[in-house]
Amino acid sequence: MPRIAYVNGRYVAHRDASVHVEDRGYQFSDGVYEVCEVARGFIIDMPRHLDRLNRSLGELSIAWPLHRSALAVVIREVVRRNRVTDGLVYLQVTRGVAGRDHFFPPASVRPSLVVTAKKIDPAAGAKRAETGVKVITVPENRWDRVDIKSVGLLPNVLAKQQAKEAGAQEAWFVDADGTVKEGASTNAWIVTRDGVLVTRPADHGILRGITRTTLFDVAAKLGYRIEERGFSVAEAKAAREVFLSSATTIAMPIVEIDGEPVANGHPGTITLSLRQAFFDVAKKSPA
Ligand code: PDD
Repeated sequence: MPRIAYVNGRYVAHRDASVHVEDRGYQFSDGVYEVCEVARGFIIDMPRHLDRLNRSLGELSIAWPLHRSALAVVIREVVRRNRVTDGLVYLQVTRGVAGRDHFFPPASVRPSLVVTAKKIDPAAGAKRAETGVKVITVPENRWDRVDIKSVGLLPNVLAKQQAKEAGAQEAWFVDADGTVKEGASTNAWIVTRDGVLVTRPADHGILRGITRTTLFDVAAKLGYRIEERGFSVAEAKAAREVFLSSATTIAMPIVEIDGEPVANGHPGTITLSLRQAFFDVAKKSPA
C-alpha cells in the first residue's frame, strides 16, 4: 500500500511529497514539529501535543497553518490513509516559502504544513524494554531555547550518531556543572534508592516532553513520588533505576551509561510498571 503524506493542503504520494527549496524550514530551520505516538488505533495525548505546538508556534511568532480543529482532522486522516494502528504521526510547521532573507517574510506568506505517518511494530519497543538501552554522555552544545520544539536539531543529530557509533541508543546532554539535561530525543529520569522518581524541571533547559507530563499522571496513579530537580551523571550511575521517555519509547529502561552498567544492568521494576500503566492513563483519541 503506498504511503500518503499531507503537504500544504493536498494528500500526495509519500514518494512525491516535497516542499519548495526556499521553504524557511529547509533554509533556516525556521519551523517546529511534533511527534505523536499511535498505539492500538489511537493517537496518544493529541491535545497535549497540540498545546505544545501552540506554544512553540507562539514563541517563534509563526501563525497556525490551519485552525487547531482542522489540523486534528488532517492528523487523523493521514493516520487513517496510511492504515497506521501502531506507529507515529509527524507534523511540521515552518514559516513558509519566501526568497532567502533572514527577516521574517510578510504576513501574507502562509506557514507550510507537512503531516506524515508511519507504522512501527510495537513488539520491537517491547523487546527493547526487556533488555533496556545504553546511553552515552556528551557536553551540552545546543542553544538555550530547547523548550521550543524546533526543527533545528543538528546537535541532537550529531549526538545521536555519536551514540550509535559507540554502540548506544541515546546521548545525554550534560551541563557544564555536571547535571544531566535530557537525551537527544528523549527526557531523562532516575529512580533513587528509596523509590523516588527524579527528573529535571522543564524550564528552558529541556523540552517539556508530553510523555514526561503524562508519566507524572501515571506516577500519581501508581503512588510514586516525583522530585523535579537536576541530577548528576554520578547520581544516575548509582541510582536504583534509570530510564528515558518520549512519544516513541514511552518509559524505556537504561542499563548502561558511558559503558558502565547501571541499575545492576537490568531494566527496573518501577520503570516497567510505569511503562505498563502508561496507556491506561494517557488520553487516547480515535484515529
Ligand atoms: N523527540 N527531548 C527532546 C530533545 C526530544 O526531541 C523529545 C521528543 C523529547 C520527549 O518529548 P515527548 O515525550 O513529547 O516525545 C524530549 C521526538 C520523539 C523526536 O524528535 O522524534
